[in-house]
Amino acid sequence: MTVTAPETVELTDLHPSRDDLLGDVLAGLSASPKRLPSKYFYDRRGSELFEEITRQPEYYLTRTELALIEDCAPRVAAAVGPRAHVVEYGSGSGRKTRLLLDALEDPVAYTPVEISRSALVGSVQRLDEEFGPVQMLPVLGDFTQRIPLPEPGREARRVLVFFPGSTLGNLTEAESVRLLKAMRETMGDKGAALIGIDLQKSPALIEAAYNDAAGVTAAFTLNLLVRLNRELGADFDLDGFRHRAVYVPEAGRIETFIDSLRAQTVTVQGRAFAFAAGEAMQVEYSHKYTDEGFAALAARAGLRVAQGWNDPRDWFGLRLLQPA
Ligand code: AVJ
Repeated sequence: MTVTAPETVELTDLHPSRDDLLGDVLAGLSASPKRLPSKYFYDRRGSELFEEITRQPEYYLTRTELALIEDCAPRVAAAVGPRAHVVEYGSGSGRKTRLLLDALEDPVAYTPVEISRSALVGSVQRLDEEFGPVQMLPVLGDFTQRIPLPEPGREARRVLVFFPGSTLGNLTEAESVRLLKAMRETMGDKGAALIGIDLQKSPALIEAAYNDAAGVTAAFTLNLLVRLNRELGADFDLDGFRHRAVYVPEAGRIETFIDSLRAQTVTVQGRAFAFAAGEAMQVEYSHKYTDEGFAALAARAGLRVAQGWNDPRDWFGLRLLQPA
């Protein structure tokens, strides 16, 4: 179905199923070890706190990726060619999108795929004013599924899926392969994907990025409990828990936990969950990649790394994937 969003932009509504916060939380608190899904970090406050994380000196990811995109945009544009239909997974802050659309030769259309209607409409309205000739074709949908793309008014030469931020890294390996397979379907045989990946490096540097001195990441993690208290009427005592992020080199990932500082019971919708003193609840993974590891992951989804670019320190990379 197509509905008209404010202004002139047409929005395709794929009616993504609503996230099941209560179901996921009850299941996660009943599991052993306990866990909560990181996708629930991003309520209004959580999104603000993430923006604040990107400004912390220790959090190198965002500024490194921005500089990298700026630097290699002409080479990306040459590899992608003219008249692309750019499909972005999530609608982000728009800064990376701007750099990409600016560099590409005559991009035909821009399709952010996003599950939040307000985030989707907001991002498209800002970009529409700046990029007149680029048709805005937002899709309200879940990018972990194959997306039936809206047809641009002018014919596109290829679809380019844009997935920056190393957001892929928050998924488990199985989830990543599933997402990349859906991406492969969405892009079609002539398509490509430009993916931002955080690279393996000194564990101390990585760990610092998830344990900033100002405590913004800790506030971001614990905001999940604030959200559960507000939205589910849970009774997490914020002083009874703490954020802990450790880099596990063998797994190539940051593992973030919320630790219970004492033995305590938390109630969610009438159900009681006991925490032991020191008990760790797993809340986020942030995978860091090697070239070989990422290529192998892509291969499992029928994709190959056609080209790649890193920043000068080899901290962060962009990879252009094509059907294998
Ligand atoms: C937005 C998912 C890339 O994993 O680095 C930042 C989220 N979590 N600090 C990341 C996050 C803690 C971030 N991503």
